[in-house]
Amino acid sequence: MEAALAANAEAGLPAIDVSAAQGKYLQLLVRMTGAKRILEVRTLGGYSTLWMASALTEDGQVVTLEYDPRHAEVARGNFARAGFEERIALHVGAAADTLPKLTEAGAGPFDLVFIDADKPSNVIYLKWAMKLGRPGTVIVLDNVIRGGGIIDPNATDHSVMGTQAALAMIANEPRLNATALQTVGTKGWDGFAIMILDA
Ligand code: SAH
Ligand code: DHB
Ligand code: MG
Repeated sequence: MEAALAANAEAGLPAIDVSAAQGKYLQLLVRMTGAKRILEVRTLGGYSTLWMASALTEDGQVVTLEYDPRHAEVARGNFARAGFEERIALHVGAAADTLPKLTEAGAGPFDLVFIDADKPSNVIYLKWAMKLGRPGTVIVLDNVIRGGGIIDPNATDHSVMGTQAALAMIANEPRLNATALQTVGTKGWDGFAIMILDA
């Protein structure tokens, strides 16, 4: 995990990976849910991907999507160094293109979906997670607190607004049962929304 962060820094990737404590949380969640098929929307250098992949059994797989080819290349190096190439499938391209392709290819249903991407598209990604999930699928949405910014009704930041829209959608969607957990640590004050998809 440390080698992956070092490689990310070396390649100049933004240091917006999950923190180690948050990565550990994702790893525990994979074990607790017994997830075998995991979908991650946006890889960056694959730090969160590695945390989730580390909890998979031989027959499990993380499908992870990244828009930026340079980020994807760094991630591939990190997956190879960890010896996890076989359990991680990285798709490069805009999620707006790769998600329909995955659907056509019959991917899923996924047991666990981690959404950690461009925040203005959070509602779109949640809808895809529902489409590619099944009753019982666990969905985790990152960065739902933003230093408390999320409760500002007059927010003008597009990332905050995208996440506010996602939380409103979750509140109004009877199939999504959710709560939000705040986290404080090396990445400041933020948090996850966790939810389960109902029938
Ligand atoms: N899950 C990773 C971090 C993902 S960071 C981890 O914790 O290790 C978010 C990723 O989303 C970045 O790789 C960036 O390339 C991508 N991204 C951010 N904004 C985007 C946008 N507007 N369009 C496309 N991709 C975007
Ligand atoms: C940002 C994005 C993230 O996914 C994150 O965990 C922290 C920061 C950002 O775009 O600033
Ligand atoms: Mg994030």
